[in-house]
Amino acid sequence: MSGVVGYIGDKNTVEVLVAGLHRIKGHDSAGVAVVNDQGVSAVKSLGKLENLEAKLAAQPVSGAVGIGHARWATHGVPNETNAHPHFDAADEIAIVHNGIIENYQELREALQQEGVTFRSQTDSETLVHLIRKYYTGDLFKAVQQALQGVKGAWALGVVCKNNPDVLVVARQGSPLVVGFGENEAFMGSDVSAIIKYTRDVVYLDHGQVCEIRCDGIKVEDLAGNAVTPEVIHVDWDDSAAEKDGFPHFMLKEIHQQPEVIRSTLRGRISDDGCSINLSDINISEEEIKACPRISIVACGTSWHAGMVGKYLIERFAKIPVELDLASEYRYRDPIVEENSIFIPVSQSGETADTMEAIRLAKSQGAKILAVVNTVGSSVARESHGVIYQQAGPEISIASTKAYTTQVTSFVLLTLWLAQIRGTMTQDQAKEMIEHLRTLPEKVQAVLENQDPIKALAGKPKYRDAQSAFFLGRDYNYPSALEGALKLKEVSYIHAEAYPGGEVKHGPIALVTNELMVVCVAPQGNIYDKMVSNIQAIKARAGLVISIATEGDDNIQAYSDDVLYIPECYEPFTPILVAIPLQLFAYYVATNRGCDVDQPRNLAKSVIVE
Ligand code: F6R
Repeated sequence: MSGVVGYIGDKNTVEVLVAGLHRIKGHDSAGVAVVNDQGVSAVKSLGKLENLEAKLAAQPVSGAVGIGHARWATHGVPNETNAHPHFDAADEIAIVHNGIIENYQELREALQQEGVTFRSQTDSETLVHLIRKYYTGDLFKAVQQALQGVKGAWALGVVCKNNPDVLVVARQGSPLVVGFGENEAFMGSDVSAIIKYTRDVVYLDHGQVCEIRCDGIKVEDLAGNAVTPEVIHVDWDDSAAEKDGFPHFMLKEIHQQPEVIRSTLRGRISDDGCSINLSDINISEEEIKACPRISIVACGTSWHAGMVGKYLIERFAKIPVELDLASEYRYRDPIVEENSIFIPVSQSGETADTMEAIRLAKSQGAKILAVVNTVGSSVARESHGVIYQQAGPEISIASTKAYTTQVTSFVLLTLWLAQIRGTMTQDQAKEMIEHLRTLPEKVQAVLENQDPIKALAGKPKYRDAQSAFFLGRDYNYPSALEGALKLKEVSYIHAEAYPGGEVKHGPIALVTNELMVVCVAPQGNIYDKMVSNIQAIKARAGLVISIATEGDDNIQAYSDDVLYIPECYEPFTPILVAIPLQLFAYYVATNRGCDVDQPRNLAKSVIVE
């Protein structure tokens, strides 16, 4: 999830581009390209935007049209070669791209056979060579034709030496917005990137291509049908624009979940919907078949995702899984069996405890297969293979979209392991994959029905609670852990999580009519047991909020309040119930006046032991 910007007009193009890039959070490299009398001039740099600015000060470039990019690596490590803009062989066409090209391997091979030499490891570079292939003087047409054979997601900006009065942009999946000024126009992956200059914008739709000139735009779909764009006036203030109109990054990131779960799945499911492709993760089928045990190690939220992973892998791939907190694993003299696979899970990829656990397991011969969000991070570099979550940068300290994409990554891994070890029939795999495909829509449905969650979080008995229990069983014990962690992190309410069946062994002593007890109880194998646990809480006057499946009226008899999620394939319920749990924590915290994006005492990357 990188960011793109573009400009055409009389202002200082580089200044406009850099101002736009400053609004794009979380990147590992950046670059700009402008069209001028010399052709297309580009400057790129690794790391912070200040590095790019220093380079631009030392070697200034100018032009009346330009594109810029802040990269969050998805394919290829962060370095200057992989940084955008990317060029065709003649250095005449330049592109910036946000998104993922699913079929880039086959496109790349076909182009290589036609004699094209690639300079970077990115999927994005494929696009510029394809555009070149179709270019006969009309940049708009070339982009349109090139994209017809491409699968995946893109927010794309293109400039060409021979068309100095044109900026071409295109969108599929990844957001893209075009803005207008007086005899000038802007482009950004986000309104915040251009709001300093304009508030009159057009949001491009999926599959549209747009030719931008100083005096107007032309929009068509990929097949060449004309589209009349709708100009919208955005009246957000600057800080709201940075958060896409949301008051906090946490809420923005909660709402990004349908999109990022789609990104996690992109390119992983075969066309016939029967199998999963993780062949790029650098662990061979022989290694999978020989593996006697998996060890999942992580901290905090990532550990909760790892617990869902354990339940999934053991149940469907039939491989024994050990789960450890990284800070414990290191000091308990773990036994690392020969041929075992060690799975660290980390959003940042920089967590010190997780890194040390990896080093220990590696030194004892384990194969390391990481689930990581940040490409090029220490965890990714230290591992033999990596499954990237594709959640994009997570700015809010409280993790939300990283969690659901970690769980989604474990679903993919489980299916892949089961496929190789033959522990699931093709029909079972197909059924699971069908459910997987509907997940983003279900997450969206929960997001669209958040008024009851908001209302609940405003009730004084919950908002002002001193203490809370979160209960769940089986797949949803980790959901309870994650719900409790979210609430305590952002609202500072004391919260503990227990497996529903464990409460009677001690914690029930704390249940009074002032204790808020959030019970995760979607339909499934363990539902009846969970209802018994809820009844035991209600019998002691606890304040029960149940999270249940739509249509479950029965549970209302034992609950003070019920939040509903859509009907869901049981193994995927942790992803769906995470949404009301995150929203509940968010709204309770904002009702209590807490700074949800920067909770006290917390840091985004815990790089100390
Ligand atoms: C909670 C949270 C933390 C992290 C933990 C691990 O909202 O964000 O518990 O999950 O510090 O961080 P990563 O995943 O970066 O290794």
